[in-house]
Amino acid sequence: MDKLLTVTVDGEVLKFPFVWLRDNCLCEQCFHPTAKSRVYWSDLHLKIKPKEITEGKDSIQVTWEDGHKSNFEYNWLKIRNFTPESQRKYDEVIYKPTKITWHGEEFNDICSKHDYNQIVKTDEALYNWLYKLSVYGVAIVKNTPNSENAIDAIIDRVAFIKRSHYGVKFVVQHISNTNNLAYLSNNLQMHTDLPYYEYGPGINILHCFVQTVSKGGENLLVDGHYIAKYIKKNHPEEYKLLTEVDIEWNDMGTEDGREFFKLYRAPIITLDKYGEVQRINFSVPQRSSHFLTPIENIEPWYRAYSLFLQLCHKFAGKFKSEQGDILVFDNIRLIHSRNGYVDNENNVRKLIGAYIDWDEIYCKLRCLTMKLGYNKGFN
Ligand code: OGA
Ligand code: ZN
Ligand code: ZN
Repeated sequence: MDKLLTVTVDGEVLKFPFVWLRDNCLCEQCFHPTAKSRVYWSDLHLKIKPKEITEGKDSIQVTWEDGHKSNFEYNWLKIRNFTPESQRKYDEVIYKPTKITWHGEEFNDICSKHDYNQIVKTDEALYNWLYKLSVYGVAIVKNTPNSENAIDAIIDRVAFIKRSHYGVKFVVQHISNTNNLAYLSNNLQMHTDLPYYEYGPGINILHCFVQTVSKGGENLLVDGHYIAKYIKKNHPEEYKLLTEVDIEWNDMGTEDGREFFKLYRAPIITLDKYGEVQRINFSVPQRSSHFLTPIENIEPWYRAYSLFLQLCHKFAGKFKSEQGDILVFDNIRLIHSRNGYVDNENNVRKLIGAYIDWDEIYCKLRCLTMKLGYNKGFN
C-alpha cells in the first residue's frame, strides 16, 4: 500500500503508483509542453516515495525524496484512474469506438448516408461519417459532384490516400486484357482488397462515377466480425482452422509498366492477443496455390473455408450504388463482392477508387472528439 498515492476526487477514492506518478511528472524538465512528450527517462527509482504531499484546491503537489516537485491536477488524475470501468470509458470515448456487428438483413438500418458537401464543410458531419464507419464498418456518402477527382476533397478532410501498386487512385472499369479480375464486368467474387499486403489498407473508397443501367453491378457486403462470432460459437473446429492456418495471398502482374509480385501469409481470420478479430483476409481470386501447411490440414481447411464462403453470402447485405454515391467501408472487416454487369456503347460502368488507413481515420476522430467537445472530460 505504501507504493500508492491515495486521493479523493469528487467523492471517489483513486489510487496511483508512485513510480507511475514520478514517470509522468508534467514539469517542463520532465515533459516537453509543446511536443507533449516525455523527456525525462533516466534514473527512475522503482521504489521512489514522496517526501511530502500537499493537497491544493485543483491539484496535488508531490515533493519527491530528492526534492523534485510534481504537480497533478485532480481531473488529469481522474481520467487516468486505474479501475477497469474508468479504463473502459477511456477506450470508448478516446481510443476507438466499440464496433457493433450486423447481419445482412440489418444492412439498410446500419448503413448510414452522409452528404458530401456537409462533410466538406462541417466538422460535425465529418465526425458523424467517420464515427459510423468505425462502428459499423460501412457508411455511404451521397451527392458527390460528378468529377473524377471528387473523392480528393473528402479524403483531404480526413488525411491522405494510401497508395498501392494500382496507383494513388484506381479506376474500376471493364478492360479485357486486365491485370486484375475487378477490372472485368464479370461477377467479382468475395474478397477483401489487397490481402497480399502486410500493411493492408484499412478503408476502401469507391466513388460511383457511372453505374450500369444493365442488371447487375450491385455489391454484396458482409460483416466478417459477425461471421467470425458465428463460426466461433457454432463451429469451433472450423474456427481454429480459419484462425490458425496461414494462407498465402498473392498478386502478380504489371501496372503502368512496373512489375509487381506481392505475397503475404495470414489466416483468413487474424486474432489479436486478446483473441479478438484483428483483420479479415479473404479473396477467392488472390489466394495462392502454394499452401504451406501439413498435408493433413488441407481437407479440413477446405471444409472450413467453404463454410466461411457460404456464410459470406448468407449474411451479406446488398447495395447498388448510384451515380454520386461513395461506398466507404472497412476493408479489414467487411468482405465484398460485385455482381456481373453488361456495358454498352452509351453506358460504361466506372468507379474511382482509393484507400485510407485506419490510423488516419482514428486520428481524425480523436482530433474531432477534442475539437467538438465530445471528449466527456477526457482533456
Ligand atoms: C474492387 C471492387 C467493386 C465494384 O475493385 O476491388 O470490389 O463494385 N469493386 O466494382
Ligand atoms: Zn518533473
Ligand atoms: Zn474490392
